[in-house]
Amino acid sequence: MIHKITPVISAGIACLLLAACAGGKKNSASGSLPSLSKTFENDFSIGAALNEEQIKDKKSKAAALIPHQFNVATPENIMKAENIHPQWDTYDFAPADKLIEYGKKHNIKINGHTLIWHSQMPPFARRIQNIDSFKTFFTNHINTVAGRYSGKIFSWDVVNEALNEDGTMRKSPFLSMLGEDFVTEAFRLAAAASPNTELYYNDYNNEQPAKRAGCIALIKKIQAAGVRIDGVGIQGHWHVGRVPLKDIEESILQYAALGLKVMITELDIEVLPRNFQGADVSQRMKEDASLNPYVNGLPDSVQQQQARDYEALFSLFLKHRDKITRVTLWGVDDGQSWLNGWPVRGRTNYPLLFDRQLNPKPAFYKVIEARKEFDNNKKRPF
Ligand code: XIL
Repeated sequence: MIHKITPVISAGIACLLLAACAGGKKNSASGSLPSLSKTFENDFSIGAALNEEQIKDKKSKAAALIPHQFNVATPENIMKAENIHPQWDTYDFAPADKLIEYGKKHNIKINGHTLIWHSQMPPFARRIQNIDSFKTFFTNHINTVAGRYSGKIFSWDVVNEALNEDGTMRKSPFLSMLGEDFVTEAFRLAAAASPNTELYYNDYNNEQPAKRAGCIALIKKIQAAGVRIDGVGIQGHWHVGRVPLKDIEESILQYAALGLKVMITELDIEVLPRNFQGADVSQRMKEDASLNPYVNGLPDSVQQQQARDYEALFSLFLKHRDKITRVTLWGVDDGQSWLNGWPVRGRTNYPLLFDRQLNPKPAFYKVIEARKEFDNNKKRPF
């Protein structure tokens, strides 16, 4: 008997192996992997922050994966003032122009990031002492950069991170040189230079109650001045096991009540230890081996927790799909994430949906499942 069953079993094993191989193929960047942007096409757009390397369009796994998974992109660095406007009268538009071209070719909308930010400012601008000169820099920068991409870009993060954790205005060269109204002025200039582009305010921790209140007050001021603002970005740099779902939901509701589109603009869920919350790029911690525990791989328990966190977040986003217009991840794969270098240099972090080989992680599949689950729940009679 046994030798009669054996061929059947072997055939079964062969089939399983073949299926596994096919499944393995699915895990590549090939078209058979579910697409995030397609999965959520009736809900919100799905974006990624892209760096200069990623838009070179080389024949690589990443080059195939990005347009398949994402329908909107934010430049991780190339449109920041230090790069695009390095000297008083010098602009370097080549990398940003390339991004626009890349977006056109792949049907990926571009969200400009960012016109006014206290960080990654060009050194010359930091050195300006005279208020009138600073005003000229501010006006020229917005007019020139927003003007160049008018009609070519979908949206701009006009002002980034103008607030402190307690909701007051952050001490920055913009505040000290121009006063609190610099935010409204930035939106006024951007609207004039790029009339058909959506204009957003963007910050981290602005889902936290105190900062959220400051953010709402800031937005109301812009609106009261009769200046256009179309949306607000919650960056979404969160930590595994500690994603503040209630605060996020409350924020989505409160921001939407202002008549604004709500976006999650820089989503990542980091897994490494850290003694503060948020994403202030000037905040750093000393290198220490105990802060880098997963050099040889992520323990399954953490991997699964992260997957559950992503699932819970996307379920929440789906619940408010009438208010949320975009969810952007801050990067494509773990190997390329900024969180390998910040706030501690040289760590091995795992914050995104694709691993270092560009294979989808459990979190990726949970995000896809969240969409199916959302439909199933809708079909239930009660
Ligand atoms: C980060 C980039 O990812 C890094 O490459 C760069 O060195 C520093 O800035 N909030 C923002 C983003 O709005 O622009 C920051 O991006 C991450 C925090």
